[in-house]
Amino acid sequence: MPIATDPFATLKADVFGVPAAEIARRFGTPTYVYEAETIGRRVADLRAFDLVRYAQKANSSLAVLDVVRRAGAMVDAVSVGEAKRAIAAGYSLGQDPPEIVYTADIFDRDSLEFVVQAQLPCNCGSADMIDQLGARMPGVPITLRVNPGFGHGHSRKTNTGGDHSKHGIWHERLGEALGRAAALGMPVAGLHMHIGSGTDMEHLGQVAGAMEAAALKVGPQLETISAGGGLPVAYKAGQPGVDLDAYFRLWDAARKRLEAALGHALRLEIEPGRYLVAEAGALVAEVRAVKRVGGNTFVLLDAGFNNLARPILYGSYHPMALVPMDGDFNRPEMDVVVGGPLCESGDIFTQDEGGYVGTRRLPEARVGDLLLIERAGAYGFAMGSNYNGKPLAAEVLVRGGRPTLCRARQGFEDLVRGEVIPPLDA
Ligand code: LLP
Repeated sequence: MPIATDPFATLKADVFGVPAAEIARRFGTPTYVYEAETIGRRVADLRAFDLVRYAQKANSSLAVLDVVRRAGAMVDAVSVGEAKRAIAAGYSLGQDPPEIVYTADIFDRDSLEFVVQAQLPCNCGSADMIDQLGARMPGVPITLRVNPGFGHGHSRKTNTGGDHSKHGIWHERLGEALGRAAALGMPVAGLHMHIGSGTDMEHLGQVAGAMEAAALKVGPQLETISAGGGLPVAYKAGQPGVDLDAYFRLWDAARKRLEAALGHALRLEIEPGRYLVAEAGALVAEVRAVKRVGGNTFVLLDAGFNNLARPILYGSYHPMALVPMDGDFNRPEMDVVVGGPLCESGDIFTQDEGGYVGTRRLPEARVGDLLLIERAGAYGFAMGSNYNGKPLAAEVLVRGGRPTLCRARQGFEDLVRGEVIPPLDA
């Protein structure tokens, strides 16, 4: 029988305590399944910080936002859409500390209108944002996102620091940005640094020092510092997690030194996305074909990179578990390539960065079996698309062991919504 306690077991029957077969029967496949309790535990892990601000880009489904909100975390929004999602999930405007903050490197015109109308606090990643906001809301307090001159991520594409990154105000240009804010009477009440996603302790640790240097330039107007996101999650057995106590101590020490220098208390925020939701989500897919191609065995699922883009984008590794539908838990193991249904060769879940097709050792799969792609709660559904005319997957939330549909699978009407065929005489 499968070892239920081993998160990396390759043979399973259940997903978050619910039989995977029940998920497939009731909700169809591919379906994302999330567990509320795991999200709650991950938020609680970070309670030493004054404020946990969830980077909802990782998963902005309303049911997930609701779980995060009930667990006590506030939220970050990178667009009007995300801000409205937060409001739809029960977050309020006009609170202190702000429940929703807008963080970006630009204002698109809709965002600026919304921010002004909703009086949404902004974290500005460019001096142009300061000018554009100041023109509409002179005197409003802001937070600045600073690029400390270095970064790190699980992939070059998720490194958000250094001079190859478009993010944040370059650390050497902070003085200029402060001057522009001062000219518009805008207090710089917060500083924020986020050096990348899926980074490591060594690089994360350097951020607190960079924050201290930047904060001293801002001076006593500062009220909040944010450590950003980037906390890593183990996708493979044996991968190092993160020593949260050590991480907090590092930031707390920097905060205390700054408090002494600035003469008042500072709020210490953290802004994780992946850490809160990655482990709490799995994609349930069905095996639809198994075929030999030269020396390779391909296991083809009904889920593809339209559902989970991380492997094709970054060569990301996700744990996988086979759910044998005949209950035979003695299947021999074999090395297989796992792919999806899309008409594109890159639609492979077992690939390395650069698009090199790899294999995974899994129990022998048969058509009709289910395959769980795990640790997929972060940047899974959120990066889904309608490529190849595929509907976005259904989503199910498990709470107290009970699964509830929280997003219906899209239908054809969703795929063509807003489209028209212009008449020939238009
Ligand atoms: N704060 C800011 C300003 C960010 O840009 C991000 C992520 C976060 C926080 C949250 O980072 P986290 O704690 O999740 O590492 N699609 C990629 C990740 C892109 C992250 C973008 N920004 C992936 O699937 O790995």
